[in-house]
Amino acid sequence: MASARVSTAFILISAILFSIASFSSATEAEKEHVLTLDHSNFSEIVSKHKFIVVEFYAPWCGHCKNLAPEYEKAASVLASHDPPVALAKVDANAEENKGLAEQFEIQGFPTIKILKNGGEVVQDYKGPREADGIIEYLKKQVGPASFEIKTPEDAGSLIDDKKVFVVGIFPTLSGEEFENFTALADKLRSDYDFGHTTNAELLPRGESSVTTPTVRLLKPFDELFVDFQKFDVDALEKFIVDSSIPLVTLFDQSPTNQPFLVKYFESPDAKAMLFLDFSHENIDGFKSKYTEVAGLYKGKGLNFLLGDLKASQAALQYFGLKEDQSPVLIVQNTNGLKFINSNVEVDQIAPWLKDYVDGNVKPFIKSEPIPETNDEPVKVVVANSLKDMVLDSKKNILLEIYAPWCGHCKKLAPILDEVAVSFENDADVMIAKFDGSNNDIPSETFEVQGYPTLYFKTSSGKVVPYEGNRTKEDIIEFIKKNRDGADETIQATTGTATTESSKDEL
Ligand SMILES: *[C@@H]1O[C@H](CO)[C@@H](O)[C@H](O)[C@H]1NC(C)=O
Ligand SMILES: *[C@@H]1O[C@H](CO)[C@@H](O)[C@H](O)[C@H]1NC(C)=O
Ligand SMILES: *[C@@H]1O[C@H](CO)[C@@H](O)[C@H](O)[C@H]1NC(C)=O
Repeated sequence: MASARVSTAFILISAILFSIASFSSATEAEKEHVLTLDHSNFSEIVSKHKFIVVEFYAPWCGHCKNLAPEYEKAASVLASHDPPVALAKVDANAEENKGLAEQFEIQGFPTIKILKNGGEVVQDYKGPREADGIIEYLKKQVGPASFEIKTPEDAGSLIDDKKVFVVGIFPTLSGEEFENFTALADKLRSDYDFGHTTNAELLPRGESSVTTPTVRLLKPFDELFVDFQKFDVDALEKFIVDSSIPLVTLFDQSPTNQPFLVKYFESPDAKAMLFLDFSHENIDGFKSKYTEVAGLYKGKGLNFLLGDLKASQAALQYFGLKEDQSPVLIVQNTNGLKFINSNVEVDQIAPWLKDYVDGNVKPFIKSEPIPETNDEPVKVVVANSLKDMVLDSKKNILLEIYAPWCGHCKKLAPILDEVAVSFENDADVMIAKFDGSNNDIPSETFEVQGYPTLYFKTSSGKVVPYEGNRTKEDIIEFIKKNRDGADETIQATTGTATTESSKDEL
C-alpha cells in the first residue's frame, strides 16, 4: 500500500500548497520550441540528447493545459542555453504511445521526466510549473550538482542563509568520499543545494580546522549547522534528509518556510501537527511546550509542525476540522490514520502524545452524517456506514468513490443511475457512491489514486477494482459476470493508461 500512502501525502501537500501556488497567464507562442515525440521517434531523438525533459500529457487533462504555455515559454528561453536543454512532450494517452507510458510508469498527467545521457538516466522532474520556475529549476539540473567554493565570494553567492546548504569539506577533491558525495549531490540536486571546498575557513559556521572529509549541513533553524563524517551513500542521504527537517516546522504565510513544509509533508514519518491562532494569548506557552516535546521524539519517527490557523485553512478542511476546535493537535501515522485532540491545552500536549505513542488513542475517521433517507437508486455510503452497508454486507456491491468537484464523476453519475435502475429488482445487487473527499476510506481495502475509483465487492467479500469502460452496458456485463453465483471466476480487467487517464487527479 505504499502508493496509497504516497497519494495521501500528496493530497495533503497539494491541498495545502495549492492555495499559495500561482500560475502566470498564458502567452501565445508562434514557433513551437517544445519537441513533439511519439513512439516512432522517441528513442532516436532521446538518444541524441545529453539532457532532455519529457512531459507525458493527455489532451483532456486540465493541469496539462495550464502547463502548456509555460512549458513552451521555458523551452523558448532554454533553447539558447549553454549547455542545451531540450523540452519535449508525448501524448501518453494516444493508443500508439501506450508502450512509452508503460515503460516510464506514467500514473497521472502531466508527468515530467528528465532523461540524461541519451536516456540512460531517468529522473523525476520535481520543479515548479510556471515558466520562470521551470527555467531556473532546469538550469540548476543541467549544471554541476555541486559547486566548488574557492573564495569568500563563492561562499557568499552560493550559501543562502534562509535555506539548507550541504557542503562537503575534503582535503583533496578526489577519492571515494568525494565521489560518493558528488554522486549523492547529483541524485538529490533538485531538493538541496550542494557545494564542496578544500578550505573550511570559507564557511560561515562550524569548525574551520577540519582535515578529514566532512559533510556540513548549514541550516536556518535549530542548531544552524551539523557535521557528518560517514560516506556510505545511504547513510549520507539519510543524514541530509533527517537534518533538513526542523525540530518544529513552522506553517505560516511566509514563503521562506515553503521548502521546509514540502519536506515535512514528503517525509514518510508520522506527523504531529498543532494548529492554533498565532495571536492566541498563550502562544509562547504553546510554542515552548511543543518544541520541548518535539525534542523528546526527535529521531524517533515523529515529526512536528506548528501551524497558524490563518495559513492552515486547507489543512483543517483536509482533516475535516472546524476553527473552533483549535488549538487542535493532530497525529497522522504512517498508515494514514489520524488521531485528533481538539481544544487542547498546553499541559495536555505531552501526556496525549505519550498516550498516542503507547497506542492508547483511537483513530479519528472523517465522515459525513449517515443520511436519514437513502432511497435513490444509487445508495449513499459515508465513512460511518461503510462497514454496515458495504464491508459486512452480503450483497454484490459496485462502489463508486467520487469527489463532488470531479468532472469524470459527473459524467458517470447518470450512467450509474441507469445501472442501479436495471438491478432495482435484484435484492442481491447494490450500486453505491462514496464521497472520498469528505469521508475517510480504509486504504488497506481501497486504493484511491484519483476520482472516480470503482470497486466491486462480491457477496462473499472479494474486492476487485472495476477498470473497464464506464458505459452502462460494460458495467452491467461486469456485474453479471463477477457477482457471486455467476459461472466465471473473477476477472479483474487489467489497468491501462486509458482507464488510469480518465480519472481526475487528486
Ligand atoms: C516525431 O514523429 C511525429 C509523427 O510521427 C511528428 O509529428 C514529430 O514532429 C516527430 N518529432 C520530431 C522531433 O521529429
Ligand atoms: C561509498 O558508497 C558506497 C555505497 O554506499 C559504500 O559501499 C562505500 O563504503 C562508500 N565509501 C566510503 C569511503 O565511505
Ligand atoms: C473500451 O472500449 C474501447 C472502444 O470504445 C475498446 O477498444 C476497449 O477494448 C474497451 N475496453 C474494455 C476493457 O472493455
